[in-house]
Amino acid sequence: MTFRSKLFWVFTLALLLSVGVIAAGVTLVTRRAFEDLNRRHSESLVAQFEREFERRGQDVDHRVQGIADAEGTVRMAIELSRAKADVSVYVNDAHGVSQSHQLDFLDFVGSDGSIISSNEWPARFGYKMEWLTQPQDWAALGSFLTRVDTQEGPALGLMAVSTVRVGDSNLYILGGERLGKDFLASLVLPAGMRALLYMNLDPSFQPANLIDASGPVEQGERFASFIDQERQQPGKQTFEIAWTPDPSGSEAFHALPLQGRQKELLGVLLIGNSQQEVVELERRIRLLALGVVAMGLLFGLLLSWWGAARVTRPVRKLAEVAREVSAGNWNARVDIRGRHEIGQLALAFNQMTHELSEQRERLLQAERVAAWREVARRLAHELKNPLFPLQTTVENLRRAKEQSSDQFEEVFRESTGILLAEIDNLKTIVGRFSDFAKMPQPELGPVNLNDVVRAIVKLFEAQFGAVGRPPITSELHLEENLPVIQADATLLHRAIENLVLNAMDAMPAGGVLMLRTTREDGGVGLEVSDTGTGLTPEECERLFTPYYTTKQHGTGLGLAIVQSVVSDHGGRISVESESGVGTSFHIHLPAKPPQGPAMVTPPAQNSAPPPSAEETRPSSESAPSEGA
Ligand SMILES: Nc1ncnc2c1ncn2[C@@H]1O[C@H](COP(=O)(O)OP(=O)(O)OP(=O)(O)O)[C@@H](O)[C@H]1O
Ligand SMILES: [Mg+2]
Repeated sequence: MTFRSKLFWVFTLALLLSVGVIAAGVTLVTRRAFEDLNRRHSESLVAQFEREFERRGQDVDHRVQGIADAEGTVRMAIELSRAKADVSVYVNDAHGVSQSHQLDFLDFVGSDGSIISSNEWPARFGYKMEWLTQPQDWAALGSFLTRVDTQEGPALGLMAVSTVRVGDSNLYILGGERLGKDFLASLVLPAGMRALLYMNLDPSFQPANLIDASGPVEQGERFASFIDQERQQPGKQTFEIAWTPDPSGSEAFHALPLQGRQKELLGVLLIGNSQQEVVELERRIRLLALGVVAMGLLFGLLLSWWGAARVTRPVRKLAEVAREVSAGNWNARVDIRGRHEIGQLALAFNQMTHELSEQRERLLQAERVAAWREVARRLAHELKNPLFPLQTTVENLRRAKEQSSDQFEEVFRESTGILLAEIDNLKTIVGRFSDFAKMPQPELGPVNLNDVVRAIVKLFEAQFGAVGRPPITSELHLEENLPVIQADATLLHRAIENLVLNAMDAMPAGGVLMLRTTREDGGVGLEVSDTGTGLTPEECERLFTPYYTTKQHGTGLGLAIVQSVVSDHGGRISVESESGVGTSFHIHLPAKPPQGPAMVTPPAQNSAPPPSAEETRPSSESAPSEGA
């Protein structure tokens, strides 16, 4: 993964995390706020209902008191206080009075608790209502909720009792309003809310007893568990009923127990609050939040993409210039300004490249001077040898010409012969110099190093066991599955040949020549070792310098050629040697040489036969004679 993508992903992840946390936070806070708002709304409605209930109670109490104070009632009380009073004349009074005072229930009850007249159940006159005669301050009690038995069955009533006392006898007036759908309809509720009433008139839950302003509630049985809970332990409670699978179809309820004088549960008022509006509002807020998050994310992604690019661009530039420098363009400079860290890095990089290039220039100059000195020294040395016989021959010829003409013919023939031979010698020396200067570039093709090694050993086999010369034993250790490499077989042949020749030269008394090929990391390895004279550490250091030789007829170019071939193939060469024990050269060649400007890959197969040992080996005859 690139640095830029890494940065991008880090930015994006941080952004996603923070956006996610914010979105979750906002959702949680809004939900809490809505729930709180909902709860307060319902609570205020319950409080409103309680106030309304109290007001109605006072109203009922007031009206019943009004009936008690009315002239007709007082007269009835006086009549009834007399002994042998005829109660039957009042049987129908309750109906008329209740109509005029707008009461649903009204009973006139005598001192002994027997009904004199009843509006809700006229046939019940004479029936005893003993609880009314119990000692009780009815005026202080005010209105209360109670179960009322009517002709049509039991009902709930908000009742009040007033007493008219004449002498020792009491006339009780029990009146009240029916607590039913009319009562519910009279409650003022905001949109989305409704009031339900469960009348607890039967020993177990009855769906038909659950009513709203229009009558029995649909799916009343779904309230059973909540009502049962209320019946077991009366108290305020809240619950929610999901009418549809969609959350907007659910309704939250506040339950309020309605109790009678003895705290017995007579009914449960349920205030329902449809969640539709809340859920829809919440949904809208969530949608809006999602939109904002999406926009934020998109914007954030673009920003992090741009930010990552901005941070990595200078780094990429720096890497590009570093590559340019490593490819050889020492004048490449990074153009990044600024006081930030990357600007400082660029400055340091430019300074470093500048100093390195100056150092390199100095080193190159010093090396060039040293190389020229070496070449000049070697050239002078090589040319001095044939020049000396040339000079003496010309002087001999002059002297012979001056002295006598008898021997001149013979001296002339001999001298011109020597002159021609030495000129040939000079030509050879010049040829060798120009040969080394013209080292060809490798022409790459698939090469199996084992084949090259085998060909060389075959070529030298005759010389190893030549008559009159101490034998050399060759040992081959060739790796079986050696990978094929891209190389120039001819050049490799020439290089290995030089190593074998050197090894042979180092073993004048015979010995063992060992050649080993190995599979190595990224390419192949070759080891050429001998049990010859070996080298001192100082000699090892000078080994690859062109024209360094310790041999009488050596050119000192052999190892320079080997090094040049190996380096042209992108490989490495190293030497290990111990004086008197032997020398071992190790070459590493990559599977494919790195593509350099000088590398040429020919279209045709690189199958030219390698040159023979005689071709590459400088012949001893053509070598300059040191001592001459
Ligand atoms: N296997 C070896 N054992 C000991 N000395 C070696 C070995 N190979 C090279 N040398 C030393 O390194 C010197 C340089 O070797 P190089 O092949 O460059 O030139 P040369 O062999 O002297 O000349 P030419 O290769 O032209 O015959 C040799 O003269 C020799 O002293
Ligand atoms: Mg050599």
